[in-house]
Amino acid sequence: MEKKFAKIPVKELNENVFHLIDDDWMLITAGDPGNFNTMTASWGGLGILWHLPVAFCFVRPHRYTFAFMEASDHYTLCFLEDQYRDILQFCGTRSGKDVDKVAETGLVPLTTETGNIYYQQCKMVLECRKLYADWLTEDNFAVQNLVGKNYPKKDFHKFYIGEIISCLKAV
Ligand SMILES: Cc1cc2nc3c(=O)[nH]c(=O)nc-3n(C[C@H](O)[C@H](O)[C@H](O)COP(=O)(O)O)c2cc1C
Repeated sequence: MEKKFAKIPVKELNENVFHLIDDDWMLITAGDPGNFNTMTASWGGLGILWHLPVAFCFVRPHRYTFAFMEASDHYTLCFLEDQYRDILQFCGTRSGKDVDKVAETGLVPLTTETGNIYYQQCKMVLECRKLYADWLTEDNFAVQNLVGKNYPKKDFHKFYIGEIISCLKAV
């Protein structure tokens, strides 16, 4: 039976964000139903900016997902049910350049009212409208040893701040 999702106000979210992102991980998905890509991410956050509920995430330039993030006005952050850890592992170690992640993992794509992709396997989905994006730059690090630790190849992330336009929860 197909799982149902309900739209809830973001202020009704009761998950611990640190646990959700750092421990559970998420899928960042961008593109349209005919052509999209997804990758695992565990760096990011949720908050309030410009009086809006926002989510921010970080994508390195050589990810296949990067071009989709650049080309898209919207993207989703998908949090999967606990039993799908293997899917997150796969999408975090294999590239859409080489494999069809949906075919390989059994992810079942669904489409939001706005036309963005999420999956049957989700427990929670944050649908985002891209508001702002920019590169992290070496000069702007106040603590320089973060650069050596995290960017030995100097492949700095681009960060994306998105307005959370809808929050879907599996019911
Ligand atoms: C737990 C975990 C967290 C990750 N977090 C990020 C992240 O926040 N940003 C990023 O650019 N890559 C991150 N990655 C790496 C990408 O998911 C990985 O390189 C993926 O294969 C990229 O897929 P793509 O080439 O299809 O976009 C993470 C990987 C794992 C396993």
